Amino acid sequence: MSAPQPSAPVLGRFPDFPHEQVTFCQDPETGLRAIIAIHDSTLGPAVGGTRFHPYATEAEALTDVLRLSRGMTYKNAVAGLPCGGAKAVIIGDPDTIKSEALLETYGRFVQSLGGRYVTAGDVGISAADLDVIGRGTDHVLGRTTSAGGYGDSGPMTAYGAFHALRAAAAARWGTADLAGRTVGVEGLGKVGYELVRLLVEAGATVTAADISAPARERVRRELPAVLLAERVIDAPVDIYAPCALGATLTSDSIPTIRAAVICGAANNQLATPDVEEQLAERGILWVPDFVASAGGVTTGCAEYRRIPLEEVPGQVERIFDTTTEVLDLARRQGILPGAAAEDLAHTRIQQARAGLKPGYLPR
Ligand code: NAI
Repeated sequence: MSAPQPSAPVLGRFPDFPHEQVTFCQDPETGLRAIIAIHDSTLGPAVGGTRFHPYATEAEALTDVLRLSRGMTYKNAVAGLPCGGAKAVIIGDPDTIKSEALLETYGRFVQSLGGRYVTAGDVGISAADLDVIGRGTDHVLGRTTSAGGYGDSGPMTAYGAFHALRAAAAARWGTADLAGRTVGVEGLGKVGYELVRLLVEAGATVTAADISAPARERVRRELPAVLLAERVIDAPVDIYAPCALGATLTSDSIPTIRAAVICGAANNQLATPDVEEQLAERGILWVPDFVASAGGVTTGCAEYRRIPLEEVPGQVERIFDTTTEVLDLARRQGILPGAAAEDLAHTRIQQARAGLKPGYLPR
């Protein structure tokens, strides 16, 4: 897989909402260099994955972790989860420097924060890696099921994105039924593959793209009804579902998009916050990524709270209602969905800070 681009800025309209704690971790013996950013823990322990990536500089890593951790606060708050937002990055190429000793040492750094930060997987960190991290800390989610975790969050992220997509279809076309809709899915990894499977099952006609030949081959073999294309962002489809890396929505790409709805799990889809306006001008309905992609962290929070695994799909399905609420709020107030989702998250956090009854907590 090609290297992920640093994430685009999260829509930060609330300057009174700074990071609580940013910790740099170093261990020359194992080569570990990591940054843990706790953005906001008003709603609960700050949960967010660890990304292992060969950042060119420490400054680039810092920018990424600050944006990603802020995004987790919004994602968790909008989803109604009793968790704050955080993220961590390990600097370096996982293919060359990842070792058990490094991961275990990283786990001990997470442990030193006493549970204020709870880690999970992200790009470059698998469930098996989390098992190793878990030797150093109790504050880890998403380990393999044999190690007592809830496993890879990809399938539940896809399930949540699927329900966000249904809600977006209902807002756009008056029916959540995806049978007969054409959908272009970009990225066939842990999330994209599973989303394609759900869409095919729902009767949608799917076009899909991935830069990885093995990922395409798997779909060709297992889901033969899917049309594989070079790229899908400008394909003649009803819905474009970004499930690869972020920042595909740019002022150059937006004029080429033919879909009426954009809804997918890729984090930080807008290259810059202002491009959401361009989507609206073209009449394209965009579901904010931090609303559509909450299925994974919903699973993580369930694991944290020891909610049985079989109850997780029901919790993830609530993303349908959340998406509907965000799109309704945007329509009623004449604002963009990104602003509506942020307002919802911000209001929930401010209410919790003011000690108001948190009626949004999952029952
Ligand atoms: P993954 O690494 O398993 O899959 C990503 C796929 O995208 C790979 O198959 C890769 O070859 C492909 N890809 C990369 N660049 C591409 C391009 N330009 N065009 C087409 N395909 C391309 O990652 P995963 O876990 O499936 O995540 C996908 C997205 O969803 C990421 O943005 C991630 O941050 C986001 N996400 C994932 C969650 C999870 O639980 N896995 C949770 C929330 C968000």
